[in-house]
Amino acid sequence: MFTVAVIGGSGLVGRAVMEMLAERADWRVIGTAHRRAGGALTSLDIRDPAAIDAFMARTSPDAIVIAAAERRPDVCESDPALARALNVDAVGAVASAGRRHDAWVLSISTDYVFDGTRPPYRVDDPPCPLNAYGHSKLDGEHALAQATDFGCVLRLPLLFGHATDLTESAVTSLVPAVVASAKAGAPAARMDAWATRYPTFTGDVAYVIRGLLERAASGAAVCGRAHWSGDEPMTKFDIAVRIARALGLDARLEPVASSVDSTPRPRDCHLDASRLEALGIGCRTPFDDALNCVLERYLALDPMRRLDAV
Ligand SMILES: NC(=O)c1ccc[n+]([C@@H]2O[C@H](COP(=O)([O-])OP(=O)(O)OC[C@H]3O[C@@H](n4cnc5c(N)ncnc54)[C@H](OP(=O)(O)O)[C@@H]3O)[C@@H](O)[C@H]2O)c1
Repeated sequence: MFTVAVIGGSGLVGRAVMEMLAERADWRVIGTAHRRAGGALTSLDIRDPAAIDAFMARTSPDAIVIAAAERRPDVCESDPALARALNVDAVGAVASAGRRHDAWVLSISTDYVFDGTRPPYRVDDPPCPLNAYGHSKLDGEHALAQATDFGCVLRLPLLFGHATDLTESAVTSLVPAVVASAKAGAPAARMDAWATRYPTFTGDVAYVIRGLLERAASGAAVCGRAHWSGDEPMTKFDIAVRIARALGLDARLEPVASSVDSTPRPRDCHLDASRLEALGIGCRTPFDDALNCVLERYLALDPMRRLDAV
């Protein structure tokens, strides 16, 4: 039976992948987590190479998806050792263990490996990260390539998906400010109208990853680098407008025409996804449909109380 290990099955991407792979009843899917281990998720700290080896020996996966990482740019900036441990060293350790087990390894990377000055970016365009997060993810790409040639880096842009906590994505983390700005007498919420993003639904990412795993299972694994991205350009201001509309709020939003982040960020890293499109792998849910679905699921228990609480 084709066995897949999803490292980081508790995260925003990992949960969507686990949900998508549950549809493949003919596969054995093993998810891991760190702080949120328990239930169906096996405990694994990817900073511990011996624990990785023991996990691989126990489970013998045919394919490994590395969805564990430190993905917060501000944390990577302030704690480069943690960023290196998770985004570089752990990728190398998992990929080396994967090679020893002849497993195909998919490692998730980011559009932030580019500087955002010359979009759209093709898979072979030279990277040039602007911040610590982008540097660590690029080093992680090199760590994967050094450890195995039976692997693939999948670069992704800003993601959003079903959230247990609104701060899990830079899309849903705008919700509290949008809601607050709609309250009587509240000041306008200032929103970045400088950087162009291509928010991508994790359900679509999971679909793409399942497609890549199906190719690996059929002996036609995709190796090297691949990109996936939504195709609707928008700034955080645009996203906030869409959130207000989805929630039926008369929000007061103010566009800010310069970067409002303390961590340097690229202006437009649009990823060219033609390699996967040519292989017939891909799925793009319209942004508003996916956003509605995410907000509905988040607010499902008690819409008014949850909105008041954010
Ligand atoms: N989110 C985005 O907008 C975005 C955009 C582009 C690319 N990406 C990339 O997509 C991938 C997934 O990101 P995400 O947004 O799903 O991240 P996330 O929600 O922050 O999830 C991080 C995952 O890493 C696990 N983890 C953290 N420390 C660990 C450790 N020491 N040992 C084992 N597992 C550990 C977490 O497990 P516990 O929670 O159980 O500790 C969790 O499953 C990352 O490679 C990220 O760089 C994300």
